[in-house]
Amino acid sequence: HDPESQSILDAHAWLTKLYHHLLRNSKEGQDAYEYLLQRGFTEDTINRHQLGYSPSSNDFVVTFLEKKGFHPQQMVKAGLLNTNEQGGYFDRFRGRIMFPLRNHLGKTVAFAGRSTGAQEPKYLNSPETDLFQKGRLLYNFDLARGSIRKQNQIILFEGYADVISADQTGIQNGIATMGTSVSDTQAQLIKRYADKVIICYDGDDAGIEAAVKAAKLLKKAGCETNVARVPNEMDPDEFIKKFGGDRFRREILDASDPYTSFMIRYLRRSFNLQLEGDRITFIERVLQEVAQLDRAIEREHYLNEIAEEFQMSISTLKDEVEQLRLHQS
Ligand code: UTP
Ligand code: MN
Ligand code: MN
Ligand code: MN
Ligand code: MN
Repeated sequence: HDPESQSILDAHAWLTKLYHHLLRNSKEGQDAYEYLLQRGFTEDTINRHQLGYSPSSNDFVVTFLEKKGFHPQQMVKAGLLNTNEQGGYFDRFRGRIMFPLRNHLGKTVAFAGRSTGAQEPKYLNSPETDLFQKGRLLYNFDLARGSIRKQNQIILFEGYADVISADQTGIQNGIATMGTSVSDTQAQLIKRYADKVIICYDGDDAGIEAAVKAAKLLKKAGCETNVARVPNEMDPDEFIKKFGGDRFRREILDASDPYTSFMIRYLRRSFNLQLEGDRITFIERVLQEVAQLDRAIEREHYLNEIAEEFQMSISTLKDEVEQLRLHQS
């Protein structure tokens, strides 16, 4: 590393420890600690993921980093400090629950700070630096790596809390991106480490829309992609806390849909199949999905379903799909 990157890494290492210490031991961190316990995170989990608390003071980190000899300008670049109009410095993360964002080597390269109340944004993230590029980092990959290799499978969650909850219940191959979108680079990384991926986003509309985008990207990257559905607009963390890990495995992960089934179900939502015009467009869109499948058996499976549902001959549908496949790159 260049000296600046090294000093950014060092500062993050110090602050990971310090924030964690403050969560566990300080009076100011007590409410945050209790909040996490109340949410069902155990002491072991809080330690394993090095969760922390940033005090609400304006200059706690300023003072700490100064004492350690860090350059304040570099710390601004690193996203640990902000500057005010008078050219002074103040702490970026104040009064938040701190989630260290670790790179694949387990080094903290950024933070996400969760507000404990109604304060916006809910998660305040570090800005990008040479060491932290959102589109290249997979949250929790360092801890998940072994399990991912063993299972040849990754579970992609929407949020940090989902990953941590899953991990706590023994599902250790979970990762997340920073926010809901997945980059091409992240899709390629996922494919590099596992052939199979289950997307397990939140059950709300935002989660479903994001899952569609992620699924397309992961499919394109060559992953065998399944999509899980969490009911009643819950997210995976809420489901696990409410119903436990066994039910989560059985009813959510094991029941996840292969990419094409998921897409067909999703498409169905946007059409009124009582209308003839919609029905035809829907079928055309389904055939486009089916045409992407490499295996004839799989294509036939979906075509049978459509033929039966809409009382069409399978041979017509097959012809259509073959036409589409001819024009496909
Ligand atoms: P969610 O709103 O679903 O949060 O955002 P969550 O993970 O369920 O968190 P809890 O359970 O309320 O604590 C999903 C992800 O989107 C990003 C974060 O990565 C978060 O984990 N996000 C969300 C932000 O970056 N900023 C925000 O303000 C909100
Ligand atoms: Mn969400
Ligand atoms: Mn969401
Ligand atoms: Mn949540
Ligand atoms: Mn959520």
